[in-house]
Amino acid sequence: MKEKIETLKQEFESELAKTTNLKEVNELKVKYLGKKGPVNELTIYMRDLKPEEKKDFGKLLNDLKQELTSKIDAYVKKYTEEELNQKLASEQIDVTLPATNIPIGAPNILEKIIEEVEEVFMSMGYDVVDGPEVEEDKYNFELLNIPKGHPARDAQDTFYIEDETILLRSQTSPVQIRTMLKAGGNTPVRMICPGKTYRRDADDATHSHQFMQIEGLLVDKNIRLSDLKGTFDVIAKKLFGEDCETRFRPSYYQFTEPSVETDISCFVCKGKGCSLCKNTGWITVSGAGMVHPNVLRNCGYDPAVWSGFAFGFGAERLAMLKYGINDIRTFYQTDLRESKTFDRKDV
Ligand code: DAH
Repeated sequence: MKEKIETLKQEFESELAKTTNLKEVNELKVKYLGKKGPVNELTIYMRDLKPEEKKDFGKLLNDLKQELTSKIDAYVKKYTEEELNQKLASEQIDVTLPATNIPIGAPNILEKIIEEVEEVFMSMGYDVVDGPEVEEDKYNFELLNIPKGHPARDAQDTFYIEDETILLRSQTSPVQIRTMLKAGGNTPVRMICPGKTYRRDADDATHSHQFMQIEGLLVDKNIRLSDLKGTFDVIAKKLFGEDCETRFRPSYYQFTEPSVETDISCFVCKGKGCSLCKNTGWITVSGAGMVHPNVLRNCGYDPAVWSGFAFGFGAERLAMLKYGINDIRTFYQTDLRESKTFDRKDV
């Protein structure tokens, strides 16, 4: 029996010496020490021995198992280390290699201009609010003092979604209404709302069926047109430089009285006259005015106590002026090169 064990050991050792990796050692372990392996066979054989023989044989068998197991463990350790070292060597990073030049995007110009405007207004205590793009006719028109059938609706060729009640908002002005209604008619309001608006316009260099506006509203006691002028002056100087001058021209909107167009002095020719300002020296940047008493009343504010001003900038127009872009479609063509060019031209 001893010889049999000895032969088994030798066979095992020669096979173990031939292994080259962890997988082979594990296979060998199953082969010799597994259920169907020779060591187990010997254990079965032991059952038939006499008790006095069993003792000696049992010891031999245990020694054999221990020896095989410890040799296998040593090989497992060796191969594991080897494989780890190989892996580490193959994954080594050469930090001296030149880096791949990954192209980096640039912030969207519209996003940038909106953020700039938001920052100026936030520094003056305004909240930035949001409103739905799918809007009810009542907020987009009626409560803004534009009843059904009023000709002022024609200027805003609207996308209706459901009969005459649900639409894609044609302006951000409905957010004024929502904000005032929420404020409840007895608290001051200071908000701006940048957002998308939609009109049934054919797209060309100066029109887009989807564009962005930045709406603003301030309601408090004793608010006058001069407050609007002062506020507009601050924002114009922040956006277009300290030497920027501002003026108001009379205009007409249903939801403001009086209404104005707000102009800035042309930053290209400094008022002398050029193609950008069409030789007038002035560039129009927003519509604005004092909130109409009907609008205040519609939102629960008593016009005898409360007054306010509102304005609406076209975000694309601001960006086009500031970055010298002459086609509104530039913003919606998702061409990375455009953003990068304008990023460098940042003023
Ligand atoms: N909603 C107007 C438009 O889309 C712009 C506007 C004008 C907004 C005057 C205002 C405002 O808040 O007071 O043409």
